[in-house]
Parts: sequence; structure tokens; C-alpha cells
Amino acid sequence: MPSVNSKVTDVGTHNKAVKTLRWRDGRLEMIDQRVLPATFAYLPYTSAAETAEGIRDMVVRGAPAIGCAAAYGVALEALRLRSATPVDFTAGMEQAFAMLAASRPTAVNLFWALKRMRAVWETVRDQPVAVIAKRLLAEAHEVSAEDIRINRAMGAFGAALLADGARVLTHCNAGALATAGHGTALGVFRSAVEAGKKISVIADETRPFLQGARLTAWEMVQEQIPVTLITDNMAGFMMSKGEIDAVVVGTDRVAANGDVANKIGTYMVAVLAQRHAIPFYVACPLSTIDLSIPDGSAIPIEERAPEEVTGFRDCQWAAQGVRVRNPAFDVTPAELVSGLITEKGVVLAPDREKLAALFR
Ligand code: MRU
Repeated sequence: MPSVNSKVTDVGTHNKAVKTLRWRDGRLEMIDQRVLPATFAYLPYTSAAETAEGIRDMVVRGAPAIGCAAAYGVALEALRLRSATPVDFTAGMEQAFAMLAASRPTAVNLFWALKRMRAVWETVRDQPVAVIAKRLLAEAHEVSAEDIRINRAMGAFGAALLADGARVLTHCNAGALATAGHGTALGVFRSAVEAGKKISVIADETRPFLQGARLTAWEMVQEQIPVTLITDNMAGFMMSKGEIDAVVVGTDRVAANGDVANKIGTYMVAVLAQRHAIPFYVACPLSTIDLSIPDGSAIPIEERAPEEVTGFRDCQWAAQGVRVRNPAFDVTPAELVSGLITEKGVVLAPDREKLAALFR
């Protein structure tokens, strides 16, 4: 696994348009999101095992970005095995799929991307190994390119929901860093600004991993989109004072009935939004909708290490030995969701019937 110290490839410079994943010199490079915003660095990946570790350790995070990374992980493994016999290639690839599938449980985009890569592999299975590897790499590139196109489409639909001057709360980071580019929730904000709307963003800090404080605030500051950072427990106060006009968040998995899994704390925000009659929108590519899951209670929720709650990085502030819970996601019932912003349009008051219709 590349470490921050040993394999930093690019430090201190970045373009306005964040490229979360990039293909350079026959390998995958991903921004190390664990160390942003203090350090801007790409880490290199040359195998499925390394990529799986990068996903598990949250070098890359955010549902669509995890899907893109997994697709590249499959391609990297195929390239690594391109001189193997067909039998060894198949065994190695099966191991790669299993490792990547075990990296994180909640974001369905991971499994969606692996299924897509497997389907492509099936179509060229009888070809020489080098040909298969080339085809899988082309598909991984396409998964990323398509993600940006989809985010732009969602952005346009979502931007139309926001009034000029709207003050919009978001939770976690559903930005360019969580995707191949543009972002889902932050893509809506970017598109609104591109359309000439003067919006401002309120970013929940998002305990315990601080995706809001470290990543969303950084993305917005980079692009000079007005942003105000608050701690998670301030959202209710801000709403009660009339300082929030809408909420837009991303999602890791939407069940067939419209229940939404997203970063821990999202449910709390949705309940508060309903209390204050503030619209609560979820930016959601179709790849994040899982029709095989009947409702939110069946969505697997990742539990992460206690050290994320007892402190941050090297600083641990809670009593040694204290019992800790650290669910990384929660589920917002569909009834609290004003609308799902998809690349096919906005689904108001989502339910089973409307979600099924998106795939017809
Ligand atoms: O644990 P993370 O940082 O991977 O969680 C990310 C989120 O919860 C995002 O809101 C979600 O993946 C949508 S990203 C477009």
C-alpha cells in the first residue's frame, strides 16, 4: 500500500478542476483525501490489492469515486496479469474482484462498477489476455468519463431547484472529490453558479471523519463559491433562525422504496429540515439506486474504527477503554426526501413506483 511519506507523486499544486483519479504512466493515481486540505498529493496504484486498500483506508471515498477506483482496480489487475496463462489470469482476476468487493460495504456504486467490469470481461473472455486487459482499461476510463457527464446532467436539473440567493446546507462531501469530477450535491451548486445564480453553501463539518470541514469547505474555497462551515450540531439552530433555504446531500445507496443511506448525521438533518419545512434533496445517479434492496433497513451499514470517535489522527481525547459506536452511515426514510435529483430528472416525493419507472 503506498504510504503518504513513501510515494507522494505530486505535492502542493492543483488545478481548479479537481481530478480525484487520474491515469498516468500505466498506473492509477488518486488524491490522498486523508491528508487534505493540509497536503495535496497523489498516491500511485498498480494492483487490485493496493486499490482495495486505498478504498478501505479512505484515500478515495464517496460512492461514485469508489466505483471508479474499483473499475480501475480491475483493469490494473488485468494489466498486471497480462503475461499469465488464461487459467492463472482467471484465478487472479477472481481474487481481485473479491478483494475489491470486500473493501467497503455501503456504497452500492462499488458493486455496480464491479458488475459492469465483469460483464465486459465476459464479452472478451475468449480473447488473448492482453486484449482483455486493454478492453477493461478502456471500460474503466469510460466509467469515469460517464460519471462526469452524469454529474453535469444532475447538476443542471438540481440547479433549477435552487432560487437565486439560496443558502443551501450540505452534509459530508458529495463533491468532485467524491466522484470523477464536478460532484453530485456540490455539482448542483457548481451548476447553479455556472447558471449565474448567487448561492451560498453551509457545510456541516461531518464528524467523525470531517469530510465537510476538510473536503467540502476546501472545494468551495478553491472555486470561490461562498461557504460557511458549521459543526453538525449547529444545523438546527441555523434552520430555526431562517438561515437555510434548502438541503442538498449525496447518497451511498438508495433502496427500492426511496430510503436513502448517506453519511452518518444525514438523517438528523432530514428530520430537522422537515420540522422547519425546508426542502431536502438528494443528488443521486442511477448507479446509486439499488432496486434489489426493498427498503433502507436492509442496507449494510459500515462500522468503522473506534479511534475515529475517540480522537482524530494522533490526538485521542476520550477516556482509554471507553465503549464506542461508529456507524459511518445512516438511513433517511423516503418520506423525508423532497426529491431525488438524478441524471434523468428530479423525482419528487420518491417511492417504489417512481424509482422502478427510472429503469424502464
Ligand atoms: O465515508 P465516505 O466519505 O465515503 O462517505 C461519503 C458520503 O456519504 C457521500 O455523501 C456519498 O458517498 C455521496 S458522494 C457523491
